[in-house]
Parts: sequence; C-alpha cells; structure tokens
Amino acid sequence: MTTTSLDKNLARLEYDKGVAWVTLNRPEKRNALNPALSLRMLEILDEVEADDRCGVMVLTGEGTAFSAGMDIKEYFRDMKDQPRIVTIKVRRLNYEWQWRRLRYFEKPTIAMVNGWCFGGAFLPVVSCDLAIAAEDAQFGLSEVNWGILPAGNVSRALAETMRTRDALYYSMTGQLFDGRKAAEMGLVNEAVPKERLRERVRELADILLEKSPAVLKATKDAFKRVQQLDWDLSEDYLVSKQEQLLFLAGEEREEGFKQFLDDKTYKPGLGMYKRPHKK
Ligand code: COA
Repeated sequence: MTTTSLDKNLARLEYDKGVAWVTLNRPEKRNALNPALSLRMLEILDEVEADDRCGVMVLTGEGTAFSAGMDIKEYFRDMKDQPRIVTIKVRRLNYEWQWRRLRYFEKPTIAMVNGWCFGGAFLPVVSCDLAIAAEDAQFGLSEVNWGILPAGNVSRALAETMRTRDALYYSMTGQLFDGRKAAEMGLVNEAVPKERLRERVRELADILLEKSPAVLKATKDAFKRVQQLDWDLSEDYLVSKQEQLLFLAGEEREEGFKQFLDDKTYKPGLGMYKRPHKK
C-alpha cells in the first residue's frame, strides 16, 4: 500500500528570505495528488510551521501543472478493491493536508497557480489564504467529464469563493477557464503573465512579511471562522479573538499607538509601522 511510504521527492521545500517555497513535484504525472504525496505534504507542513525561516508559505507545482487534481489511478481506481478502511484512511490523509491543516495554517499561505489546475487541486488553492495565477493557467472542474461530482469538499470550496452561477456552470460543463477568468470570478486574487508570476508572488509575500505574524494568523482565522457564525456569535468570537491577540502580541498595538499618536512617524491608513521587536 502506497500510503505508508514516504517519498521526499514528491514535493520540494526551499527557503528563501522568509518564504518557504513548496513545489508539488510529480511533473511526469502533472502533479496529480496521490496518497504518498499526502504523506509528504503533511511532513512538509509540520516542518514549515515550526521553522523560523518561514514567514510565508507558497504552494506551487513543477512543470506545466499546478496539479492535475486527484490521481485517478491511485486515488480512485486502485481503491476499488481495497477494504473500506483503506479508502477511508487514504481520504483522511488527503483532507488532512489539503484542508484541515492548510486552511488554518500557522503562517500565511499563497497558492501560485502556474499551470493546469483540475478538480481536487481546487481544494488546496482555496485553502491557501491568497492565490495568484498565471494568466494562461488552465482551470477545470473536470469531474463531470469522467463520471463523478466535485466531492472531497471541492464543492464546498467553490461555494466559498465563486458565485453560484459560475460554480454550477463550470462544474456542470467541465469547461476550462484561464487564470484571467479565475481572477475575474474571485477564485484567485489576480492573474499575471507567467514570466511575472514568481516575482509578483514574492512582492506579495514581502508585504506580508512586514506584518506581525500573530496579527496575520488571528486575522485570517477570524475571517474564515466567522463565515460560519451568526452575528451574535461572530461578535463574541471576534472580541474574544482580539483579547487573545492582546495577550499574545499586545506590544504590536502599543507600538502602533506610539508611532502614530506620539512620535507621529507613520500613518496607519498608509502603511505599516516600524516593527522594532520583530517576531
Ligand atoms: N491522475 C492520474 N494520472 C494523471 C492525471 C491524474 N489526475 N493527470 C495526468 N496524469 C498522467 C497521465 O495519465 C500521463 O501518464 P502516463 O505518462 O503514464 O501516460 C501523465 O500524467 C501525463 O499526462 P498527459 O495527459 O499525457 O499530459 P498532457 O499535458 O497532455 O495533459 C492534462 C494534461 C492535465 C490536461 C491531462 O493529463 C488530464 O486531463 N488529466 C486529468 C485531469 C483531471 O480530470 N483530474 C481529475 C481531477 S479530480
């Protein structure tokens, strides 16, 4: 069974000036997501979360694909004759990295969609906090083309990022759309020419690296969680989260007060204060 073998080549991890670049690395299979890749991604997420060299994590793919989605052979066909408990385990491993871990990851995350992006690969894209695509990247909800529905929480991810008409149109027709269209529909933040992709992601990462990590973590988690709450619960949650943040990183706010109100060295509306006690 492939689920127990850990192959470090399936995804690469490189650190560069505050950014952990994580590259899905099965280009010969268009970075299709198989059980062994789930294991490798879980290992990488654990590593990156604990490593101070990472302030922002970027997820991308080697070669022509971001990812061709779930591995149709290993994730579906090979599972047909396996005991149910094996399919449950494989599925759990997959959701664990693509969604549970990634969605609430300790560090800010950016999906850099460099090429083909199909079906199951929508889930890690949506789980990342931000996403930038190459203008000519091709996206497809191809499940309908081979007889399944966008399960694996892909439909849930679509409901969060796309308008109903767009999500139904593309998941019912299986038609491709490019990076520009993905940006126009809100699935990614923006699309840039492929030759600018890495540079643009780097610029965005550098903006995030100026901010307080604790404040960023609280900000992204709070937004994602309150979508599921009514107004009363949301108010209470946000107040509690803000009070927790004062406990974890109260000095950040004090510094902001001081530089704006006393020193008059910056304007909060126009940019970030100088962080003398970066952490
Ligand atoms: N699952 C399993 N294998 C896949 C795969 C997937 N999702 N996507 C690609 N591969 C494999 C191909 O079977 C082929 O393997 P082989 O060399 O052993 O024959 C190899 O990757 C290269 O794929 P190929 O189709 O020749 O590449 P391409 O560049 O011409 O086309 C795609 C790229 C992505 C358009 C095409 O591979 C494709 O349609 N993949 C399936 C997309 C999909 O529907 N994914 C399921 C989402 S849940």
